[in-house]
Amino acid sequence: MFHTFNFNTPNIIFGLDTIYQTGKEAKKLGATKVLFLTGNNVKKNGYVEKVEQLLKEEGIEFITQYESRRTPEPTTDLAENVAKFAKQEKVDLIIGMGGGSILDVAKMAAALMTNPLQVRDYFGKGKVPNKSIPSIMIPTTSGTGSEVTKHAIFLDEENNVKKAVASANIMPSVAIIDPMTTVTCPQKVTADTGFDAFLHAAEPFVSNMSNPLTDSIALESISIITKWLGPAFADGNDIEARYQMALGSLLAGLVLNNSGTSLIHALAYPIGGEFHVPHGPSLTCLVNSSFNYIKVAKQERFARIAKAMGEITDGLSEREAAEAGLNAINHLMKSVNLPTSLSDLNITDKSKADGWAEEAYQERRLLSRSARVLSVEDIKKIYLNAF
Ligand SMILES: [Fe+2]
Repeated sequence: MFHTFNFNTPNIIFGLDTIYQTGKEAKKLGATKVLFLTGNNVKKNGYVEKVEQLLKEEGIEFITQYESRRTPEPTTDLAENVAKFAKQEKVDLIIGMGGGSILDVAKMAAALMTNPLQVRDYFGKGKVPNKSIPSIMIPTTSGTGSEVTKHAIFLDEENNVKKAVASANIMPSVAIIDPMTTVTCPQKVTADTGFDAFLHAAEPFVSNMSNPLTDSIALESISIITKWLGPAFADGNDIEARYQMALGSLLAGLVLNNSGTSLIHALAYPIGGEFHVPHGPSLTCLVNSSFNYIKVAKQERFARIAKAMGEITDGLSEREAAEAGLNAINHLMKSVNLPTSLSDLNITDKSKADGWAEEAYQERRLLSRSARVLSVEDIKKIYLNAF
């Protein structure tokens, strides 16, 4: 097989206490006035004041804004309001610090500074024509990968469905990943976002968009997350676990940005939109039925996932090794209390599967990467097997 690929990434600064480089990085990007977007929950970790101090030391003016969401996913008006304010204030750099939603709002606001339309006009692939103003993203979870990706996800309130802007022009300039900023991340969010990261590595690995570069990164990410998600969940103050999860999540984010997610993320959109389920559980409830469905196309790859997860595969047939991979994935979700079926989320109305299948089928950007060609009827079956 012959591959053609390119690899995109913001400038990455990773490691303990790297957050102290924020002021200098802002200066390098030519900032004179910064909009610093963060969240009330983030304030508790003490890093908001630190970033403000670092900007002051560089003589950079700044305004701090606290994003307040009404729904698990941000609505489009949030990014539009931030951009409107940033334009009025003549801001020349946006810093986002928080979970994936805050980073998505900050990225999109930076894009709206140089692009004339509203967020919903940019839903889909490659629709943002102009490059954003410079931005720095600092994640406080491990992780959605938002700090290194070209994606921003919003709730389209008109249609009550989650939609993505996917455009290289919204990719941040710099991602500062300091594991210390994730230490106060609550246990449930650690599990939700940690497994989201696992899927950002695993889903592309078993899709049609995999390539040798993202494959090697994905397998390393899968190994790290398998080993360290449990310890980070069990004790949030375990710095080594937080460090490793930040690394695993960064690697997964790079895979996500360059090979993209597929089936599970596509099928999760209608669930997340209708029931306002956070991103993590909206995925995990579909993992077993989705991976079982595409296993036939990528058996050898599920066997490699088993090996990366530390399963003993010597002496097993490829089919048995693939099965061991699926079992290990299920075990990892259960070990950190994640829902593994729709019923676990108290979603029990099977008649809804028709509507979800029609809706998910429209996610061509994601489904075109699926290793198994999917009809509306196939998607419905996957939903029904997820109850
Ligand atoms: Fe995700």
